[in-house]
Amino acid sequence: MRPRGFSTQAQAPMPKKPPAPAPVAEQVRSLIRPGQSIELLKTLHILTREGALNQDSRRKLKQVYHLFGFIEPLLLELHAQNPSGHITLADHGAGKSYLGFIIYDLFFSQRASGTIYGIETRQALVEQSTELAQRLGFARMQFLPVTVQESASSPLLPERIDVVTALHACDTATDDAIAFGLQKSARHMVLVLCCQAEAAAHLRANKALALARTPLAELWRHPLHTREMGSQLTNVMRCLYLQSQGYRVTVTELVGWEHSMKNELILAAHTGQKNPSAAQRMRALAQEFGVQEWLRLRYPQAAQ
Ligand SMILES: C[S@@+](CC[C@H](N)C(=O)[O-])C[C@H]1O[C@@H](n2cnc3c(N)ncnc32)[C@H](O)[C@@H]1O
Repeated sequence: MRPRGFSTQAQAPMPKKPPAPAPVAEQVRSLIRPGQSIELLKTLHILTREGALNQDSRRKLKQVYHLFGFIEPLLLELHAQNPSGHITLADHGAGKSYLGFIIYDLFFSQRASGTIYGIETRQALVEQSTELAQRLGFARMQFLPVTVQESASSPLLPERIDVVTALHACDTATDDAIAFGLQKSARHMVLVLCCQAEAAAHLRANKALALARTPLAELWRHPLHTREMGSQLTNVMRCLYLQSQGYRVTVTELVGWEHSMKNELILAAHTGQKNPSAAQRMRALAQEFGVQEWLRLRYPQAAQ
């Protein structure tokens, strides 16, 4: 006899076992691009000394490729517009410069001209990157131990820089990178935003007044909300500022950047058409939030 509750209907299939991972050598082959420097990937710890990948490094490499996927078309466009031109790229808050190295390896090393400048305040990282560039023969990479702000007036940098990148450059370093890009007439800026503490400090300083004046100030009454609102306000102001100064702005998410909460990507392309109403909106927002002083400090060209 069949036990009670037995059904003659087909039973749900057993969950399938996940497919066995591809052999390591195959995984490495599928991720490494033709001509790519294995030595570089080992030094950046994307590959182990034995040339293998672990899950973490695999993810890291995919993330860097993902960001490179946004940057490569800009470089190709610049190259197509002026094939004999010398493309210049400045990477601000470069850290270990893995973004700069990957861009050089995948794009610049295959061309006879073009220079990448890494701007980083930490001397030890600058020395490390300089040494790595020499070892790899990446002759058109230079690293400067200066702040983003100082780099704008450095005689070691050219008058014009085509592409500005700033990947998680701390706090106001992103604003300095934008100011640098404006001064250097950058054709493109690629900014992945970091902590934005400065706006929160201004919101905090004027909170009591704002609460007395407008119910909107409830949005930043609690300290945690002050921080979040400061961050959101900064991102919005940066976009408006770029628009006001003649850039077309796209805001998107750096997908695949799951290890970081800071994954907002601003892509700005120079159009030359300044947008005065964006500056006007910035002034209106600054007034509404009680942060006019911050506007004058960080976004001077929109403050008048
Ligand atoms: C969070 S790390 C990001 C490093 C790298 N861009 C990346 O994404 O791996 C920020 C780096 O910016 C540097 N930095 C911070 N403020 C700076 C400034 N004002 N000028 C130049 N470098 C700065 C720090 O020393 C640090 O190495």
